[in-house]
Amino acid sequence: MTTDGTGVLLKLGGELLEQPNGRRNIARAMHRLRNSGPLVVVHGGGREVDAEMAAKNIPKRAVDGLRLTDSDTLEVVVGVLAGRVNTRLVAAARVAGIPAVGLTAADAGVSPMRRADTYTAADGTQVDLGWVGTPVGTEPPVLLTRLCDAGFVPIIASIGADADGQLLNVNADTLAGHLAARLSVERLLIAGGTPGVLDEHGDTIASLTAGRLEQMIADGRASAGMVAKLIACREAHRGGVASVRIVSGKNTTNLDDSPGTTVDGR
Ligand SMILES: Nc1ncnc2c1ncn2[C@@H]1O[C@H](COP(=O)(O)OP(=O)(O)OP(=O)(O)O)[C@@H](O)[C@H]1O
Ligand SMILES: [Mg+2]
Repeated sequence: MTTDGTGVLLKLGGELLEQPNGRRNIARAMHRLRNSGPLVVVHGGGREVDAEMAAKNIPKRAVDGLRLTDSDTLEVVVGVLAGRVNTRLVAAARVAGIPAVGLTAADAGVSPMRRADTYTAADGTQVDLGWVGTPVGTEPPVLLTRLCDAGFVPIIASIGADADGQLLNVNADTLAGHLAARLSVERLLIAGGTPGVLDEHGDTIASLTAGRLEQMIADGRASAGMVAKLIACREAHRGGVASVRIVSGKNTTNLDDSPGTTVDGR
């Protein structure tokens, strides 16, 4: 890899990773992608965090798919994502023959962060997100390029830390878009539970222009987690990533054949 316009940054929605069968399929899909070049994986785990928070009676609040993260929420997010979800995925990848290495954005220079500014939501309101990180790195993430060069597949949980060591929660799509740009990968592939970006009739939009992307955020046809996803796609394009797709990761071992949306840079 990378910083040379090759390779794939694969983002996996947590929904795909909850059941052993889903993890098995995804691990096979990762194996297939790796056959064609370097692979870096970023994963979320939103629904498992929700379940753990409900079990602990911690209320959930989110805006545009960004989780408002107080101290109690941060504890759960770190434990679930960097602990259970990451380690299970690494183990499933190893079964599929992938030399996977589990990391977070807090590992050596993967993605330095600072605490996010007050967020202006799609509806215009100003929101303090709490312990949420904004990726600030500009240097190529050497740890990732070296791991890829040595044949390993980094699998990164969406947790980071600021310069003082404060842990921060970051939306996994936000991290994926940022890393795709910093690594100068050829492709950003975002796999989740829906077959791409859906229109108001629930049909998959095959190709989304930059103008329509902005419109969908502004008029609410993209909401919740899809807003963060589309903003991440825009970030990747601005960083020079040539191909950006949002696809279904369900019941498939070949993500290139999966129904979804090509997000156009123009
Ligand atoms: N226009 C749209 N098309 C598709 N999904 C949409 C749209 N608008 C809102 N959504 C919602 O966005 C969700 C996807 O974002 P979500 O954050 O829930 O999942 P994810 O990012 O794949 O997983 P994770 O957060 O665990 O990484 C969909 O399940 C759907 O409910
Ligand atoms: Mg999400």
